[in-house]
Amino acid sequence: MTASAAPPDISMRGKVCLVTGATSGIGKMTALELATKGATVVIVGRSQERCLNTLAEIEAMTGSKNLDYLVGDLSSFVEVRRLSQEFLSRYNKLNVLVNNAGAIFMRKQNSPDGLEMTWALNHFAYFWLSCLLLDVLKASSPSRIVNVSSDAHKRATMIEPPNFRGKMPVGYITYADTKLANILFTNQLSYSIKSTGVTVNALHPGVVATSFGANNGLIGKIMQLYASTLGVKPAEGAKTVVYLATAPELYTTTGKYFVKCKEVNSSRLSYDTKFGTKLWQWSLDVSGRLGMDTRRIEILK
Ligand SMILES: NC(=O)c1ccc[n+]([C@@H]2O[C@H](COP(=O)([O-])OP(=O)(O)OC[C@H]3O[C@@H](n4cnc5c(N)ncnc54)[C@H](OP(=O)(O)O)[C@@H]3O)[C@@H](O)[C@H]2O)c1
Repeated sequence: MTASAAPPDISMRGKVCLVTGATSGIGKMTALELATKGATVVIVGRSQERCLNTLAEIEAMTGSKNLDYLVGDLSSFVEVRRLSQEFLSRYNKLNVLVNNAGAIFMRKQNSPDGLEMTWALNHFAYFWLSCLLLDVLKASSPSRIVNVSSDAHKRATMIEPPNFRGKMPVGYITYADTKLANILFTNQLSYSIKSTGVTVNALHPGVVATSFGANNGLIGKIMQLYASTLGVKPAEGAKTVVYLATAPELYTTTGKYFVKCKEVNSSRLSYDTKFGTKLWQWSLDVSGRLGMDTRRIEILK
């Protein structure tokens, strides 16, 4: 008798996963891996063409037909709200939300809502999507939110939520601040939704050779040279994301930070609950001004 090959891992069959920033880099490899494990995977990107190309690649590699996409600019509140509504009109459950789309902006840029762009995309998109989809995540529990942060958060310098009307730093410092915000948000949300069956964790994917930074001209090219020389491949970068999204042993783990699939401490500032609450309230205030119905989230404090 010849030994048969190991059966495929279909542990995510029947689960619905939403992955942002999945047309490239870490998000794309995360979507591929989740599809390989049998999940229904919905990806988000700004261009229909890039989304369709990505899904065609994933389908060719996995044979999965359970693939879908939503087109939208995550730096815009109205777009995120529309996108969430579109998701809810198609699906009545969500088992995993991967907040991954993010970027660095070396020059000051404003979002469609007039927010500084790094903050709009890297922090507010995570905040908006998680809050707008919280009910379906709760109804689908056990479910998970995975926030892709970065060890860059250790370089954060902010001690107050930013004042978009005042003078504020751009480039790496702002990027680092938003990646700290990812962890403060993770900690605050995990506390607010404990015992709902929804967990929320954050991670650093490593230095990964992706398109990250490509939107910054010559500086972007230097960043990419650095990542392609020293960084790991996107599939390696996606490992901790997929681990947090799927590992059975993390069933109840929440409010933690992971690197290389191991729970580790994040920076001292990321555990500052007073600052976390302040950032949460500021995020609610900013979102409320943009038209978000914050009443149900306010009671999460
Ligand atoms: N690469 C690294 O070394 C590294 C290290 C630490 C942390 N990270 C984090 O990892 C995450 C993913 O980065 P990556 O390296 O995979 O970058 P990437 O290759 O540049 O991918 C970024 C993704 O985000 C999407 N995106 C960008 N702006 C968007 C917007 N306004 N609305 C909707 N989608 C948008 C892009 O899709 P479209 O262009 O198709 O819209 C793309 O799929 C980020 O949060 C980053 O901070 C990366």
